Formats: sequence, structure tokens, C-alpha cells
Amino acid sequence: MRSSLVVGNWKMNGSRTANAALLAGIRAGCGDAGALAVCAPFPYLAEVAAALDGSPVAWGAQDVSVHAAGAYTGEVSAPMLAEFACRYVLVGHSERRQMHGETDAVVAQKARAARAAGITPIACVGETLAERDAGATCSVVARQTGALIDALGGQMAQVVVAYEPVWAIGTGRTASPAEAQAVHAALRAQLAAAGAGDVPLLYGGSVKAANAAGLFAQPDVDGALVGGASLDAQEFLAIGRAAWAARSATMKVLS
Ligand code: PGA
Repeated sequence: MRSSLVVGNWKMNGSRTANAALLAGIRAGCGDAGALAVCAPFPYLAEVAAALDGSPVAWGAQDVSVHAAGAYTGEVSAPMLAEFACRYVLVGHSERRQMHGETDAVVAQKARAARAAGITPIACVGETLAERDAGATCSVVARQTGALIDALGGQMAQVVVAYEPVWAIGTGRTASPAEAQAVHAALRAQLAAAGAGDVPLLYGGSVKAANAAGLFAQPDVDGALVGGASLDAQEFLAIGRAAWAARSATMKVLS
């Protein structure tokens, strides 16, 4: 049985005061919301870890260096994150691919660096609108995922994969549940062939409480990577509850 997971990607948002309020809200309501995690900006990670200590909510970073240590000004390494018991790190988010020129190879190296330090990478893949319009969605996502599989080998089973169509991120335009499922099914087949068919497959791109249940009803959508809606505790918790409810319904059918 695959697990469900809902991850908040705060991006470059937050302040010490706002984070404290957001995390207190998440802590207070997380009891029935399934597996949750928040990925916060680097300077806040230690405070986020302290605020979530003893709660079931995990935390992670939004990026990691391909290097373990050395003269790489401004970079943060996986061993540094691991020292604070960081559980997850986003790699290959489309904002980093597009604005920071990260290639498939760099993203795969970042995933490998995370695994080497015992951190679970949440590897993001997804096509642009131009690629979708050109009918290239599946080939783009397969190429991005293939680079991860090549770099990680047997460790691919310890990764979380997030399908995030670039045209759906921060635009309010979500992929329909059927569109998301079609790509997730192709990803699942590719991952299964690499011995990683059970990794959690998250959908991301304008997920909110109002559209979450429809996405989570799809057989290959195991959870979500949530940007804007993760900055509101009640909205984030509602998405978590929707994922948990869908997972519980599947468990009932299977039992
Ligand atoms: P969004 O962002 O939910 O605000 O569309 C998702 C993401 O970029 O991870």
C-alpha cells in the first residue's frame, strides 16, 4: 500500500512571526490530516524544526548543493541539512530549472547528494505549456525521470516524485484529475520498470482544498506538492485531510 503525503512548498515566503502562526495552526489541526511536511527557506529551518518537534509533521528544504563541502559560496550541502535531521528536500522544482538553469543532470546529482546524506529528495518533473501544446508532455517527463533513475539506480525507491505541470504552477489553472492521472500512470510504469513503482507520486500546481479530493481520487495520485495554499494552515490541513480520506477509502476497498 503506497503512502499518502502532502508537502507545503513555502517558496521564498514567510517571516519568523508568520511562520510561528502558520506552524502552530498546522500543529493544532494535523491529527487527522495524514502525512504532512513543510519545505521552508533555509534561514528558518532550525526554527521550523523546533516548532514541529514532537509533532507528526515533517520538514524539509527547497534546494541542496550537488557538493558535500568546499568553496561553493551561497550553497547549502546535504550533510549540513542532515545534521539538523532534515527529512526532505525539493530538487528540480521548475522555478529552479527555469530561473537557475538547472539541467536534468544537475537535478539528478542533487537527488543523489540528498540520498547520500539520508535525506529523501522530492524530485519535481513537469512540462511547460509549449511542450504540452506540442504533444511532448510524456516524453519530457520521461526524460526528466529517466535522468533521476540513471543517477540513483536502486535508490530510486527512496525518492518522492512530484509531477508539476509548469503551466499549472501559481496560475490558478490546475490539471484536470484525468490529465494528472494520465501522466501519473505513465510515470508509475516508468518507475515500476526501474523497481520504484511504490514511490509516492505527488501532483502539484494550484492545488487547493476545493480541487484536492478530485485529484486524490485518481489511482496514481498519492498526494500533493502545494505552493500558495500551503501558506494558510486551514487550507493546507484541508488538503491533507482530503489525501488521507482518499487513502483510507482505498484501504477499505482493498481490505
Ligand atoms: P502552487 O505551487 O500550488 O502555488 O501552484 C506549487 C509548486 O510550485 O510547488
